[in-house]
Order: sequence, then C-alpha cells, then structure tokens
Amino acid sequence: MLVENSQLTESAAQFAADVRAGLNRTGQKELPSKYLYDPVGSALFEAISVLPEYGLTRADERVLRQNAQDIARLLPTSILVSELGSGSGKKTRYILKALCRRETLFYYPIEISATALALCERELSDITCVSVVGIESEYLNGLCKVTSQRTQGTHLLVLFLGSTIGNFDSGADRRFLKRVRETLTPGDSLLLGADLVKPLSKLIPAYDDPTGVTAAFNMNLLARINRELDADFDLREFQHLARFNQQTSSVEMHLRSKKPQTVTIPGAKFTVRFAAGETIWTETCHKYTVKELVQLAQASGFRCEAQWIDDEWQFAENLFIAI
Ligand code: TRP
Repeated sequence: MLVENSQLTESAAQFAADVRAGLNRTGQKELPSKYLYDPVGSALFEAISVLPEYGLTRADERVLRQNAQDIARLLPTSILVSELGSGSGKKTRYILKALCRRETLFYYPIEISATALALCERELSDITCVSVVGIESEYLNGLCKVTSQRTQGTHLLVLFLGSTIGNFDSGADRRFLKRVRETLTPGDSLLLGADLVKPLSKLIPAYDDPTGVTAAFNMNLLARINRELDADFDLREFQHLARFNQQTSSVEMHLRSKKPQTVTIPGAKFTVRFAAGETIWTETCHKYTVKELVQLAQASGFRCEAQWIDDEWQFAENLFIAI
C-alpha cells in the first residue's frame, strides 16, 4: 500500500511540474498530450473512435482485418508479438489469429494504463492459441523487458498501430523509431499504422466533429487540471480548435482562450495569464505520404517491406524489417 501511495504522489507531482512548465512557456503555451487520457479522457476517446467523422480507427482495423493473412505470410514462423500501446487490443486480434499456427503464440501488450491492459487481456481471452502477457510500462522500457525474454532464433514483431507515430513532434518520429530499432535484431519486424494526408474537408471534421465529442475530449484536460490541481479554469471561456499546419502536414489541437483571463493553479503553485485568442497547444497529428513512410523506415534502420492502404480512409499499414 505504501509503495502505491508514494507512486501516486510522485505522478501527481510530475503532472503539476509538467503543467507548470507547459503553461509558463514564453510564446506558445502547451500541455503534454499524454495527460488527455485520464479515465474521462479515455472514455471520450473511445467515443471519438466510433464517430462517423473519425475514420482513422476503423480504417486501421479494416486494413488489418483484410490483410492479416498477407501480413502473416511475410513473417517468420517462430515469432513473439509485442505491441506499443495496445489499448483494448481489439484491432490486434486479426493479426494474432493469422499468426498462431501450431504452437502457442506469446503476445506482450505494453501499456501505461493498467485499465487498458486488463481490457486487452479480457478482449483476447477467447483466442486459445494466444498467451497474453501484459506489461505495464512506458514503450521502450517495456520493449526491453520483452527482448530480455526472447530465446535464440525467435523473431520479434512489434506492433505500433493507430498512427500514434504521428503524435510525435517533427523529427521525433524518426528518433523514436531509431530507439525501437536499437532494441531489435536484424530480421525483426515492425508493423506501423500511419494516417495519410487527405483533403481538409475530411481531416478537419475528424478532429472537430459537430457533436462536440472531440471538443469535450480536448477540454477535459482543463477539467482534469481543475480536479487534480484544484485550478479554476472556467471551461466556458475556452474553446476547442483544430487546424491544419501546411508546413508540418499536421492537424494541431489547441484550446483557445475566448477573453483575457487569469487562472490560478494552487496544486502547481502558480497563476497563469491568457490574452484573448491565446492558445494552449495540446496535440499534433502528423499526416504522412506513402513515400515519406518508406523514407522513415530507411532513416531509422529498417527497410519498408510492404504497405497496405485503405481506400475509403487513406491509412497505411507498413511492414518494416530491421536491417
Ligand atoms: N492523437 C490521436 C490522433 O491523431 C487521437 C486524437 C483524436 C486526438 N482526436 C483528438 C488528440 C483530439 C487530441 C485531440 O488521432
């Protein structure tokens, strides 16, 4: 119990420190997107993923479902599967089913959310040939734990789906994949889901839907600061903003202050002033081209073996092989 309590206090202190650092920046204020996913935020994101305007999750699942056999055919037989940020594990079932041949297949989902891990274990429990071993950890630490379990001659397939790669800042996607590559051995594979560039008439509603679910998801970050750090953000005086940055080919999510205002955050021991129209940057969602993904593989120590694309909602599943 004691250990759990001290961990809790530590993460509360980290949250306070990150909020303070992000909102005290000169120039563009920002908040780390990982804090969007508290229990309320995670529930709202589940709702986003079924919105008609947000085609991304369905496209990811569709490409995996339709091409699971093809993907499996390109992979070696003796294989361990790990996933960075498995979420509920729903999309992963197709690939796992296609991969379990004779022997039991080990699947190591890596998640910082214990709730998601539990959900994932339950979701996949009916696939009897798969043994799910959840790892509650950050991505790279978790991956090191997985690679320490492998025996000689076993290949590793790492899944990184849902276009989470697009949420890294420019250049950080490549740096992250390089670090993933460092944990791997030549011949290991990475299956990377990435959302592709598409017309703004499709892209913007995906991140600013008319029912306001996405706005609520973004706004919940301020509500969370109110709840956990005792702050006095008046949510009605902020608005959700989704805009496309042509230079970086990214949808940027912001929270915009409607008027000049001051917010007190006692739990992080500071006060912050907003000008009218000033924004807090909360998330970046980079949209790739097919060619850019091939280059991304090359720049991070992989070769791009194959790509599968959804025609309905331009989205690519990319099989990278470590070289
Ligand atoms: N970042 C994810 C994405 O690129 C999840 C997401 C969907 C999101 N809608 C959002 C993040 C709105 C912040 C705000 O799709």
